[in-house]
Amino acid sequence: MVAGNVVPLVDLTRLPAHVAIIMDGNGRWAQDRGMPRPIGHREGSESVRRTVRACRRLGVRALTLYAFSEQNWHRPPFEVEALMELLREFLLSEREELIANQIRLRMVGRRDRLPARVREVLDRIEGETADFHEMTLTLALSYGGREEIADAARALAMQAAKGELDPHRIDESLIDAVLPSMEVGAVDLLIRTGGEQRISNFLLWGAAYAELYFSDRLWPDWTEVDLYGAIESFQTRDRRFGRVSSDAQVATMDDLAPDAAPRAHA
Ligand code: IPE
Ligand code: IPE
Ligand code: MG
Repeated sequence: MVAGNVVPLVDLTRLPAHVAIIMDGNGRWAQDRGMPRPIGHREGSESVRRTVRACRRLGVRALTLYAFSEQNWHRPPFEVEALMELLREFLLSEREELIANQIRLRMVGRRDRLPARVREVLDRIEGETADFHEMTLTLALSYGGREEIADAARALAMQAAKGELDPHRIDESLIDAVLPSMEVGAVDLLIRTGGEQRISNFLLWGAAYAELYFSDRLWPDWTEVDLYGAIESFQTRDRRFGRVSSDAQVATMDDLAPDAAPRAHA
């Protein structure tokens, strides 16, 4: 159980609407214990459960989890196989809880590269949860941010070549509309566990103005308390989006004149 003094520090009225997590450090967690890497991935599934539950309880609207990158296919076949099997088991074991909590499940990434047995379960649960609105859980599987943008560019170019799209209409909002990862909006808070401070080809477009939070915690050790800490940190940030801070003192050109009298600020 979470200590009672931890949750209240999160301001439930100012939650990040979209939290995205690069769940890193499973392999090192296992290696530190002299165990094979897949044991770390298995333990990592428990952190996924804890995190999904905690986000749902808090009222986070969208959670996107980086579970398998397009580049992760280059790992040893034994590890890839273990990850795919764990993914299937995770989906089967979470099905009821997702439905009970009205959580919509979806995936982004190259679906056709996933083994058929994973696709089947995914298709089924996506279908069963498609109308839920409490929270959207997006699993990034065989996902790469650059690949997603390249796919969108190709699709738009094909429409333009067929005369169905005027290239002048291509702007940021059209790209928002065609990127699957943007269906739940841009990322507000991007968390990476495992100590590395890099994006590793995650949501490149949607994370343009995300607040970044890096934790040394290895993913299997990540708990809801760590999540609350990340959200608390998010809530202390001043998100300026290129503007000046909302409480900045606004100067006028007169203030800049050489003989301007010092301004009295209230
Ligand atoms: C993250 O943990 C899980 C996946 C990438 C699938 P890693 O397996 O990358 O763990 P480390 O970084 O090697 O410790
Ligand atoms: C990013 O972790 C991918 C996932 C968490 C699924 P990696 O472990 O693959 O990233 P790098 O190799 O350290 O950049
Ligand atoms: Mg890693």
